[in-house]
Amino acid sequence: MNETNTFLLDGEEIPFTPGQSIIQAATEHGIYIPHLCWHPEFKAHGSCKICTVKVNGRFGSSCTMAAQAGMNVENRTSELDDKRRTLLQMYFVEGNHFCPSCEKSGNCSLQATAYELKMVSPHFDMFYPDRAVDASHPDILLDFNRCIMCSLCVTASREVDGKNVFSMGGRGLLGRRIHISSESGKLADTDFALTDRAASICPVGVILPKRKGFAVPIGERKYDKLPINLQVSEETP
Ligand code: FES
Repeated sequence: MNETNTFLLDGEEIPFTPGQSIIQAATEHGIYIPHLCWHPEFKAHGSCKICTVKVNGRFGSSCTMAAQAGMNVENRTSELDDKRRTLLQMYFVEGNHFCPSCEKSGNCSLQATAYELKMVSPHFDMFYPDRAVDASHPDILLDFNRCIMCSLCVTASREVDGKNVFSMGGRGLLGRRIHISSESGKLADTDFALTDRAASICPVGVILPKRKGFAVPIGERKYDKLPINLQVSEETP
């Protein structure tokens, strides 16, 4: 390791290898930077902005910004966490996130991040969008009411499964959404399978295996045991 390849993250010196993003270097060293759309297996999407840090006094996405020697990065400051909390509140009102009735509760990154950032209310008016649920597939249920548009399912299906089952389309706050790549628009009319990487990548409760809901009791789920900031090396499913 070249000694000059370090940067400061909340005052702590973090080594990195050239080409790594700030969040990759932080994660490798066990430091949590809140994030939703970034996953270590895939190229950064840079859409959710929860991972925003301050680099030498300027805001930037830590998942897309390359680590550079000598940079001074602020992460868990009250200023940044306040902004992250506001963004989270926007995510919660934009969709229908009713955690107590969601099968993903306890295993959900959005919920766990909201707990970590001490979000106690949605604050804004709820949109209550009316989005379709697709139960056509024999093994998978899709509930787009919980989609945060991270596009991880799009990427995993394309890059790992080689299937292109999902795509992102439409415009605007309520128009943009995930589409199913079949003539009918139904998941049953694709070659999607429960064993696909895309079937287990969703950080929220959109892509759910059928006949497994609530199999693990409350108190024993992933984020029931340890908060998300203490599971830095164990990324979402
Ligand atoms: Fe960086 Fe979403 S994790 S923008």
